[in-house]
Amino acid sequence: MATYDLPERPRRNRRTDAVRRLVREHQVTPADLIWPLFVIDGHDRCEPIGSMPGQARLTRDLLVAAARRAHDLGVPAVALFPALPDDLKDPVGTESTNPDGLLQRTVRDLKDAVPELCVITDVALDPYSSDGHDGIVRDGEIINDETLDVLGEMAVAQAEAGADIVAPSDMMDGRVGAIRAALDAAGHSNTGILAYSVKYASAFYGPFREALDSAPRAGDKKTYQMDPANVDEAMREVRLDVAEGADIVMVKPGLPYLDVVRAVKDAVDVPVAVYNVSGEYAMVKAAAANGWLDEELVMAECLLAFKRAGADMILTYAAVEVAERMQ
Ligand code: PBG
Repeated sequence: MATYDLPERPRRNRRTDAVRRLVREHQVTPADLIWPLFVIDGHDRCEPIGSMPGQARLTRDLLVAAARRAHDLGVPAVALFPALPDDLKDPVGTESTNPDGLLQRTVRDLKDAVPELCVITDVALDPYSSDGHDGIVRDGEIINDETLDVLGEMAVAQAEAGADIVAPSDMMDGRVGAIRAALDAAGHSNTGILAYSVKYASAFYGPFREALDSAPRAGDKKTYQMDPANVDEAMREVRLDVAEGADIVMVKPGLPYLDVVRAVKDAVDVPVAVYNVSGEYAMVKAAAANGWLDEELVMAECLLAFKRAGADMILTYAAVEVAERMQ
């Protein structure tokens, strides 16, 4: 049988599982994952989210139990989002700064029950806004600087409750600097900021907005979230957020923006997070439910793509199911 005289045979490094493991360049571990969770008021209630199979809105008691499970599996952090009834929403998001608001109570419960778990809180008006926008709306316009004052107060309320890291997700100009100043002035210089620096005006957030009933009541988010066509602008946003004091920067959504994750990773020396958003999760779940894709393998492949692109951490609704499989 003739053999060709090939100078290189890359397949030699793929011959056995042992060799493949030796030459593997990237891996995902539970320590890379952050689990987003939705909290509702009440006791012992779990409301499944239709478009996010496996995820639910949980009351604080159930959320603490879920977070403990994540911690036990080696997941270092959770990211919290409150789902509020309409009567607690108003145009200026008053409830967001309530020291005894739902989110603040949840943070306290979590820090009491699982103090080692890193608790990340969302700083944006949309869960609290009767307009469903991330900023204060006046005459159809999202008012930037007035919103910053509320964001600063909200971040302080969350830090006071015990949040380890606050995560501004609103894309207002100057928010990282405003929040850093507010936190420092209130004596919270140890509270970190995970900035949603590059957040696109994406259609992949649909299931999340269903979960929180937080879709804009009028218009869209294109005057603050970014145009999916832009990369230079992403670099500008990242530069500003790092200069304003961001401890970690994030790109969101994830899978359709891996080029942006790589560009950001190459440009900064702070850690880079990526958000594998609700629509990305829903697509995999829906295809799997139809028997069209192998959910476990596809989910693992998606998470690996984030690591390859340079992400240091991944927010994913699949965090716990993936960590379970890694045991
Ligand atoms: C809003 C916010 C959104 C998400 C996280 N924070 C949605 C939006 O901007 O409308 C989306 C997350 C997801 O889709 O998983 N501050």
